[in-house]
Amino acid sequence: MAEKLILAYSGGLDTSVAVRWIKERYDYDVITLTADLGNVDDPESIRKRAIDSGAVGAHVADVRDEFLSDFAYPALKANALYQGIYPLATALGRPLIARLMVEAARREGASAVAHGCTGKGNDQVRLDVSVGALAPDLKVVAPAREWGMTREEEIAYAKRYAIPVPSTLAKPYSTDDNLWGRSIEAGVLEDPWTEPPADVFEWTKSPTEAPDEPRYVEIRFDAGVPVAVDGEELSPVALVGHLSTVAGEHGVGRVDHIEDRLVGIKSREIYEAPAATVLIAAHRAIEGMVLTKDQIRFKDVIAREYAQLVYDGLWFSRLREDLQAFVESSQRFVTGTARVKLHKGQATVVGRQSDLSLYATELATYGTGDLFDQSASPGFIHLWGLPIRTQVQVQGSPE
Ligand code: ARG
Repeated sequence: MAEKLILAYSGGLDTSVAVRWIKERYDYDVITLTADLGNVDDPESIRKRAIDSGAVGAHVADVRDEFLSDFAYPALKANALYQGIYPLATALGRPLIARLMVEAARREGASAVAHGCTGKGNDQVRLDVSVGALAPDLKVVAPAREWGMTREEEIAYAKRYAIPVPSTLAKPYSTDDNLWGRSIEAGVLEDPWTEPPADVFEWTKSPTEAPDEPRYVEIRFDAGVPVAVDGEELSPVALVGHLSTVAGEHGVGRVDHIEDRLVGIKSREIYEAPAATVLIAAHRAIEGMVLTKDQIRFKDVIAREYAQLVYDGLWFSRLREDLQAFVESSQRFVTGTARVKLHKGQATVVGRQSDLSLYATELATYGTGDLFDQSASPGFIHLWGLPIRTQVQVQGSPE
């Protein structure tokens, strides 16, 4: 009997062709696994397509809640943005997909797993490294890295073996999406000078076509986790879905970025991440109220390192765990509500409140009720400036 292999299956052309190709080339019985991170409309038709492509088994796992609770929200607590701009939707999804593949392999008694990533991207690294960390004994097969077929050759291969060719083929872009965001690459976007055409965007209105009237949303956080919008408590999936719709309607969350891939390539990436954009802004606003300046500064350093690790496929590393432990601890008092104005592509925090706020009106005010003792300032400044005065005395003034 042939050995079994678990293939991470999107239902697209690459992974559909891969089912057959893996059987031919390596003689594995292929069982597909589709992870629904908010990107599966019709699980039944995906399962059918997998079987029609030659799979001996096909599973679809709804892991939307797990994705947000165990991957996106931990990253939100860190305010993780790769290169300061990309909320890491795809990068956060891969370790979960790897974990699901490993779990399925154990369940099914499979000796290998496979994915449809090419040899030029980040995702191959994320999946290979994550599977290697969780199950060093499993073999990883990456057909699209090996077969050397062009798109046309893949289509011909599909026709030859009566593999159903998906309708998404007509689209001139390569996309990936989950609840945390949507990524668009390739086609005319490969020219960094070309403005993304309107047909790139599916989740966000063009800011120029967004409503003239702003929309306000109030987001409540409890220990760093968003728990309610406009006073209504929502599950992670409902909350992120709702914000995605509302912010997308106002053109919020578009990103156009020249991104540095792990494999050394600079790549032009377009993202739509309306919910992540709003949530990170709101989360930072609460942190601004409840954390000290030293906590905020150090946390920003951690955020950068954290984002880099996640981008680089090192989710299942001890360092990511260590950074996460700091991030979790930092969130103990991040409880409060941010008021965000959504208008013509912008998400602007215009209000914030917290019972644990360090903001003290009696210290900040220029009006009546001022409790700040201005007479203490000269003494403070005298000591603060002492190192500089000493240096100037010995080494002279800077130019
Ligand atoms: N550049 C993004 C990342 O590495 C997205 C990659 C997947 N996007 C795609 N269109 N296939 O996380």
